[in-house]
Amino acid sequence: MSRILVIRSSANGEASVSNRLIDAYLAAHPEAHVTERDLDANPVPHVTSASLAGIGRHAPEGDKFAETRALQDTLIAEVFDADLVVIGLPMYNFGMPSTLKSWFDFVGRAGTTFQYTAQGPEGLVKGKKAVIAHARAGKYDDASGFPFALAHTKALLSFIGITAVETVIAEGMAFGPDAAEAAIRNAVTQIANIA
Ligand SMILES: Cc1cc2nc3c(=O)[nH]c(=O)nc-3n(C[C@H](O)[C@H](O)[C@H](O)COP(=O)(O)O)c2cc1C
Repeated sequence: MSRILVIRSSANGEASVSNRLIDAYLAAHPEAHVTERDLDANPVPHVTSASLAGIGRHAPEGDKFAETRALQDTLIAEVFDADLVVIGLPMYNFGMPSTLKSWFDFVGRAGTTFQYTAQGPEGLVKGKKAVIAHARAGKYDDASGFPFALAHTKALLSFIGITAVETVIAEGMAFGPDAAEAAIRNAVTQIANIA
């Protein structure tokens, strides 16, 4: 049985397009064991001076950072336990939602999910796949390098070692309800057909 980790980051609740795509993917894989992490319902805190020392490779012993460290351990374990990570990626100001960025800030730990070698960085999360369910109001040419949401998300996944990534995009949500619904239906079909 495949193990799927779902990361949701939409603040749109029932109206969320990325969540609808994720649901379509899960409906097409009823046999999978699914772990859900909804960053809207349970956001990962921003990294601040109160938490930074707790998430590093050499986190100091002691209660002060124990909660942060424990959360990071849990988030990283969820990634290692999965065969496939499904990421809901709404576009916010051309990038990813800050809730998703915070999740990545916690998942990256030197010596655990990546390391630097004489040849450069090496991702340590090996043998996993990812599916990105991307939703955005506009229409863009990702090959142009702008906007950044998708490129940034793929770069962060690659940095920790996840390079087998499939992307489904529902775009043009702002082009009227008919165009939006057609784009969503098309993306739902695409994501449901990913093995
Ligand atoms: C704070 C915020 C910023 C947004 N910025 C952009 C943007 O830069 N480009 C864009 O195309 N859509 C933008 N949108 C629209 C969302 O990408 C769109 O509503 C999408 O459907 C969100 O995904 P969701 O439905 O899963 O929440 C923004 C929405 C919000 C709430």
